[in-house]
Amino acid sequence: MNLVFLGPPGSGKGTQAARLSAKLGLVHLSTGDVLRDAVKKGTPLGQQAEGYMKRGELVPDALIVSLIESKIAAGELTSGFILDGFPRTIPQAEALDGMFAKNGITLHQVILLSVPDDEIVRRLSGRWHCPTCGQGYNYPAAMPQVAGKCDKDGSLLQRRPDDEESVVRNRLGVYKKQTQPIEDYYRQKSLLREIKADRTPDQVFAALMEATAVKAAR
Ligand code: AP5
Repeated sequence: MNLVFLGPPGSGKGTQAARLSAKLGLVHLSTGDVLRDAVKKGTPLGQQAEGYMKRGELVPDALIVSLIESKIAAGELTSGFILDGFPRTIPQAEALDGMFAKNGITLHQVILLSVPDDEIVRRLSGRWHCPTCGQGYNYPAAMPQVAGKCDKDGSLLQRRPDDEESVVRNRLGVYKKQTQPIEDYYRQKSLLREIKADRTPDQVFAALMEATAVKAAR
């Protein structure tokens, strides 16, 4: 099962992709995670991407397409995967079609997680993570036992710089302008399955399991 997860910032792509990939034994490739890691390590990719990410803008298509090309060339996307956060523009979607055709890879389904804007702002303004172990928290739904500290290792929790409300609003605008058109792109190919994601994580996961099982049975 080869899947793309699509949806606005904070719609739960990362949360659900991690859970579904563990359940189904899929590779989970988050372009946002790869870019944040590159920024942290100060690699050339990270240096080129950092400014765009801080402002809540998309990094240039050429950069991100060559990142995915390198993952395919390295054999990381051959045996079942979830692409989380890619593609995000029509040129990226077209480039992905070309890469898949060239490498004999079939895209089975595109999952769109839909969440209203107010809920997105609420979720992202409450999002914190541990810089040491990566454990995520969300105020007030999933708070640490001691305010500001990780339950697992006591590290001081951090926020993503692009989770400031003004940047989140910019990210939402960017989604509507640059990413939403690919919903229709995949709808026309009969690949899009929309899941209402303003429900509990368990309810969203159950809907995802149902959607992927139905697709796999066809
Ligand atoms: P990326 O990291 O992909 O950010 P995003 O798409 O904006 O998504 P998020 O990671 O913020 O949210 P999510 O949908 O994964 O939700 P999550 O599960 O974390 O990209 C960051 C940047 O990198 C971009 O802005 C861009 O600059 C660049 N980039 C990346 N890919 C690119 C590309 N292809 N092209 C160009 N640039 C690219 O959940 C959010 C919070 O809500 C968490 O705290 C979670 O615990 C909570 N939550 C999740 N589900 C629920 C629920 N059901 N109920 C309540 N709370 C929930």
